[in-house]
Amino acid sequence: MSDITFIVFGATGHLARTKLIPAIARTVGAKDIRDFAFIGVGSSPRSDDVLRTKVGDALADADVASDLRDRVLAAPIRYVSASIDGFDDLEHTVDQVEREAGLSGNRLIYLAVPPSQLDATVRGISSTTVAKSDGWVRLVVEKPFGVDLATARHSNAIIHETFDESQVYRIDHFLGKETVRNLLVFRFTNSLFEQTWNRNHIASVEITVAEESGVDGRAGYFDESGTVRDMVQNHLTQILTLIAMEPPVKMDAASIHQEKVKVLNSARPITSDDAILGQYGAAVIDGEQVVGYRDEPGVSDESTTPTFAAVRVSIDNWRWNGVPFYLRTGKRMSARMSQIAVRYHRPPVCLFHAEGECEGHQNILKLRLQPDEGFELFFDVKQPGPGTEIGRIPLAVRYDDLVNEAPDAYETLLTDVVEGDQTLFVRSDEVEAAWELYAPLLDRTDIHTYPAGTDGPEHADDLLVGFDTWSNVRRTFSR
Ligand code: BG6
Repeated sequence: MSDITFIVFGATGHLARTKLIPAIARTVGAKDIRDFAFIGVGSSPRSDDVLRTKVGDALADADVASDLRDRVLAAPIRYVSASIDGFDDLEHTVDQVEREAGLSGNRLIYLAVPPSQLDATVRGISSTTVAKSDGWVRLVVEKPFGVDLATARHSNAIIHETFDESQVYRIDHFLGKETVRNLLVFRFTNSLFEQTWNRNHIASVEITVAEESGVDGRAGYFDESGTVRDMVQNHLTQILTLIAMEPPVKMDAASIHQEKVKVLNSARPITSDDAILGQYGAAVIDGEQVVGYRDEPGVSDESTTPTFAAVRVSIDNWRWNGVPFYLRTGKRMSARMSQIAVRYHRPPVCLFHAEGECEGHQNILKLRLQPDEGFELFFDVKQPGPGTEIGRIPLAVRYDDLVNEAPDAYETLLTDVVEGDQTLFVRSDEVEAAWELYAPLLDRTDIHTYPAGTDGPEHADDLLVGFDTWSNVRRTFSR
């Protein structure tokens, strides 16, 4: 594998510490990249040694193997303060490090910066020779990409002044999760599912991402974003497009992106009846007092930023007309769990249950992202013995039973960037179509409070009437 210069903006931030630095190290290990350098860019003044210590701490916290840790720490590690030294210093540092280490100029530029800093950062890079190299140059941009349609369009235009779309990797780490990567394989290689994956057989699809944690010291970022921008517009929508898309002509990035965009373009405009937003309030969880969102450090006590969203999306195309897609996500929920539940229609005549009791007896396919990545197919069987008592059983597969440890999503995606594979990244028109879809939710201030540690505002279940509430989903997990 050829050599690489990793240039990371936001190198001393939370994401870099918990995810990026460990993922870079593991990618270097997995791809056996022998020659590389790490240039971290941040806003505060810091020395190279401080960055080196932070890199070492991040690798230790993530339990990266000690030989790999030593290899990373032996590579050139340099810090540049973009706001103090400016972008000229970045250009100088990149040139110097590559010359001294004999690197050929393959540059992976990772922008782990909030949307408000994206345009200035890209302009700064474009004012230097950092984006011009004899090697390859790839730009990775963290989500959320923009804060609405206008800003996303603007950022795309600024990026395209310097970078070709084939160099741009808009990252959504959910696309690197094992269950999500499996979705297309699952759908298109198993005729059992492929042939029933439509409105004739499927009654509804629920995509749930529930988190137990609150804002975890990220209030500065989160209070500006809120759940619709932080989770719905990207993570949950990416899952939705993979579930709903038509088979691509080929399994390449362009063909897949094409089909995903068509899904978003077929979505019916969302109205206020299609969404319920919430914000967690104070509560006692397991005997401990938990503060409400507005009392979190760094959050205004009048904040109307949502920490919960339940949204109904309708895809008005031939395959999905009449099938609701429910997206639900929240912080400070009763449990941490993410799953996709595909609910099939029940049989036309209810033979074995009293009328009205058949609803809970559809076949359900659950694809679980966490905990315990895997999938379960639920169906009814006759309980052994006299009579016709019906029991509900799952056919279950856990990835942990198949592999020792699945790679972290960031490692998977960084490896793809290194290999130049854009399949699991988000194209410019995709990100814009997603912003357009959720535009009516971005400035909503009718936010329902829910106690921390619960399943969200009660109203949310009205939207989801007849479907799993989180408590039901949770029971399934703790079986
Ligand atoms: C991030 C969001 O993209 O995803 C966070 O900004 C969220 O708010 C996180 O907690 C969830 O990711 P994971 O991989 O921990 O489920």
